[in-house]
Amino acid sequence: MANVPRRIAIITGTSGNLGINIAYRLLKEVPKRFRLTIIVTSRTLVKANKTIHQIKDYNEKKNLRSDGYLDFDYLLLDFSDMVSVLSAVHSLEENYEKIDYLFLNASQNTHDHFNYVEATKEMLTDPVRASTNPGYKIEKRGVKSKDGLGLVFQVNVFAPYYLIEKIKGSLLAKSDDARIIWISSILGRPENFSFNDMQLLKTGMAYGGSKRLVDLLHLATYKELKDKYGIRQYLTHPGIFVSYTYTRFLNVFMYYGMLALFLLARWLGSPWLNIDGWKAANAPIYVSVKADKEDDQSLKYGSACTKGGEEYLKTTTVDSTGKDDVLQYLETLKKEWDEKFRDQITDSRKL
Ligand SMILES: NC(=O)c1ccc[n+]([C@@H]2O[C@H](COP(=O)([O-])OP(=O)(O)OC[C@H]3O[C@@H](n4cnc5c(N)ncnc54)[C@H](OP(=O)(O)O)[C@@H]3O)[C@@H](O)[C@H]2O)c1
Repeated sequence: MANVPRRIAIITGTSGNLGINIAYRLLKEVPKRFRLTIIVTSRTLVKANKTIHQIKDYNEKKNLRSDGYLDFDYLLLDFSDMVSVLSAVHSLEENYEKIDYLFLNASQNTHDHFNYVEATKEMLTDPVRASTNPGYKIEKRGVKSKDGLGLVFQVNVFAPYYLIEKIKGSLLAKSDDARIIWISSILGRPENFSFNDMQLLKTGMAYGGSKRLVDLLHLATYKELKDKYGIRQYLTHPGIFVSYTYTRFLNVFMYYGMLALFLLARWLGSPWLNIDGWKAANAPIYVSVKADKEDDQSLKYGSACTKGGEEYLKTTTVDSTGKDDVLQYLETLKKEWDEKFRDQITDSRKL
């Protein structure tokens, strides 16, 4: 096996509906001459193991990759804990010589409740908005992680950025075709974010705000990653699909009501109602395995589908206002965390 060329992929949050479908599609799309290693990440060992079994079963059922051409590893990674991020970096550097694909898919929100009056109004008057930009999903404000950072900001933006910063030179640059794939959202709208609230602690739209930050961060960093490290970074979004995170809050009537609403919005002409995790993974898979040097990295690659549910790729442009401010903020915060970690190491050596 020593001479078999290898592709190594990390998918953060592999256990979610999109994460696991990215894994399924990689089995199919990464050319079979490569030995594919999928590094599953989860906050718990139980979920990591379960996810690996699901992917293995899928491979066997579909007869996709033969023995020796597929293997797995896992990382216990919690983006709400910077020590966990740093441990993941050490573990990767110890066990791998390179990383080819880094899918930044894990995300968190601070869902509080549904405003049912608003939901009914929106569904009756504007089903497309109710599906693609709902005003009835109410988030908790001001939630901090145990690291003292805005929770949604840390999990969705800062910790993945920190991970990139730590492995871009040591692992990603060692690949002959490294790709970083950010999973954003159509909710990354400028109006969901304010520069006076970088850690998204005052807003009731922290989730959408975090995706706007991702969009700006991508625009501020992709050129340097390519020119200095030979890494191609892409910005994608999966459209709308059934999220395991949200289905936890729904009873059976609400679940089927949601599916009916999504189908109606698709029929009314929204291209983003993929519903299914497999179709939602179209854009992330395209940029990781199929995109070539001609594909414009300043665009946002979206997974879209026709009224009949046929998948296609749809790109959109992103307003870049404030990208440098975002990068500067994150660079400063990164330096602060580097200092904190340095101090911790010194402290532990004191007698
Ligand atoms: N669903 C949609 O319609 C939609 C629309 C637009 C964009 N998106 C984006 O698509 C991506 C995937 O969505 P999804 O609905 O499949 O995902 P999800 O269920 O919201 O989350 C995916 C995974 O992230 C992991 N995760 C959560 N908190 C974490 C933390 N603190 N540290 C590390 N991992 C953490 C969880 O894995 P473990 O529990 O195993 O740790 C979870 O299974 C997300 O980035 C989401 O924002 C989704």
